[in-house]
Amino acid sequence: MQWQDEYLVGIDEIDEQHKGLFKAASHIIEALQQRQKWFEVHSAMVKLLETARIHFAVEESLMRLCGYPGLHKHKEEHQSFADKLTGLQLESLTEDVSFAMAAFIKRWLHEHIRTTDNAFAAFVLEVTGCSRQRDSRQRRKGRLLLSVPPNNNSCA
Ligand SMILES: [Fe+2]
Ligand SMILES: [Fe+2]
Repeated sequence: MQWQDEYLVGIDEIDEQHKGLFKAASHIIEALQQRQKWFEVHSAMVKLLETARIHFAVEESLMRLCGYPGLHKHKEEHQSFADKLTGLQLESLTEDVSFAMAAFIKRWLHEHIRTTDNAFAAFVLEVTGCSRQRDSRQRRKGRLLLSVPPNNNSCA
């Protein structure tokens, strides 16, 4: 499970946390692929859930601060991820859910970051005035990346 720049949303703090989520998710996928002991998989899942909960709280605080209208729906997506992963964690005690677990984590991160997180980040950058800093040099694969200028404390 590889991080790619197409996942950048343009807010450094959030992008760093997303990289951390990918790292934590990779540990689970590796543990599943290498058929490591249940304890290893379980520990990696606990780590991912912990990392995700902190990250979700940061995003939700930022959305609240910026008056983001999509907060409720975004929060629901976070909650459903945590619920589903917790459910899979319990199921893994009695059955092999490796494939379902790996597929769910990959798909959720890919879709949520590229759509839901990207939309909220664009809103935050817009209301903080940071989207004016868009830099045409950062066009990659036809997609305009947003950037938060360094040392600008008014931006998230
Ligand atoms: Fe999110
Ligand atoms: Fe996120």
